Amino acid sequence: MKQIPVMILGAGGVGQALLRQIVDGRAQTINRAHCRFNIIAVADSRTWQFQPDGLSDEQLRAIVAAKQAGKPVGGKRPSTLETLNAAHEANPAPHILVDVTAESGMELALDRALALGWGVAMANKKALAGPWQTAQNYFNQPQIRHESTVGGGQPVIATLRYLLDTDDPIYEIEGQLSGTLGFICQQLDQDAPFSAAIAAAKANGFTEPDPRQDLGGQDVMRKALILGRMAGWPLAAADIQVESLYPAQMAALSVADFMAQSPRLDDAMRRRAVQARQNGQVLRYVARVDEKGGRVGLQAIPTGSPLTNMKYISFRTERYSDEPLLIGGKGAGVEMTAAGVLGDMIGLVREMMS
Ligand SMILES: NC(=O)c1ccc[n+]([C@@H]2O[C@H](COP(=O)([O-])OP(=O)(O)OC[C@H]3O[C@@H](n4cnc5c(N)ncnc54)[C@H](OP(=O)(O)O)[C@@H]3O)[C@@H](O)[C@H]2O)c1
Repeated sequence: MKQIPVMILGAGGVGQALLRQIVDGRAQTINRAHCRFNIIAVADSRTWQFQPDGLSDEQLRAIVAAKQAGKPVGGKRPSTLETLNAAHEANPAPHILVDVTAESGMELALDRALALGWGVAMANKKALAGPWQTAQNYFNQPQIRHESTVGGGQPVIATLRYLLDTDDPIYEIEGQLSGTLGFICQQLDQDAPFSAAIAAAKANGFTEPDPRQDLGGQDVMRKALILGRMAGWPLAAADIQVESLYPAQMAALSVADFMAQSPRLDDAMRRRAVQARQNGQVLRYVARVDEKGGRVGLQAIPTGSPLTNMKYISFRTERYSDEPLLIGGKGAGVEMTAAGVLGDMIGLVREMMS
């Protein structure tokens, strides 16, 4: 049985779920993929634990428990690049690098991993949505898997890869890509004030600690950009028009002040929701992208459409021209996201490490 050395960057919600799934799923991974993931390092923003012959399952469980208790992973770590070099020096065999951070600037580490012949599995969108000149190296690159960057674990990237592999030209990709904004829009259907919908999403833990990170649409834009680039269109962020659900004047406020002042947004949003309702429609935050660019923002869609209450992605292609290929259902949360990363790790083992 093959032992695959794995370095995990990030021990937040997704990183912890991934560690749990790797440990709890050992028998299944051996049974189906004939390998064992040997976690040689786990790092957070400042610390790490590094054990070249592999951390035990007890140590991995203890890392999860420590992070849940708000403690660091381990001792102070060197730079990310140095952590990769240390792992390579200890064992020159190809590793899998997992990026489950939410950081910008991971390109150096990704490039080093690729140069070392490692596989990379990531849920972090930032490098894929960065400037095209750098990001283009990460698309349709057999050493990189990134299922969980879009769709929260739904097999979206795998489906897109299948369409590309079978030479079905992609015309347009559309979807509701944010569970958080989907929830807020559903609250508007019930005539809730926009500010109350934001507050409810925050209270339920659906938003980032600063809800503007969701409301600004940048995360959805990154997902649309990743899908478009993967489809073969060398798009830049500027090619995707983004509708922010809060005005630029509210960007500099503290989170508390933003929440306090958010009722200022209620009237305008209520007018839009009422207008949509009068036309037999509801508002949804929809992303659409094609070879020329795209748009993410609020769109009125028919009330009876099955798409109103579903997190979905649709592909309109040459073969699926009149009836788009649709993937829908739950797609959110750390467990599903981590499962997408684990699936990527197994995919890398099957395709490049066997
Ligand atoms: N949560 C979801 O449902 C979901 C869904 C789809 C995709 N994603 C993506 O998955 C990624 C992880 O999400 P999350 O919810 O787990 O985020 P999170 O809870 O904020 O965790 C991020 C982790 O990364 C660590 N980190 C920061 N810089 C690092 C570095 N340079 N090297 C190593 N670790 C570093 C942080 O360290 P500290 O603990 O020291 O701060 C933290 O442990 C994000 O890119 C997110 O967009 C998440």
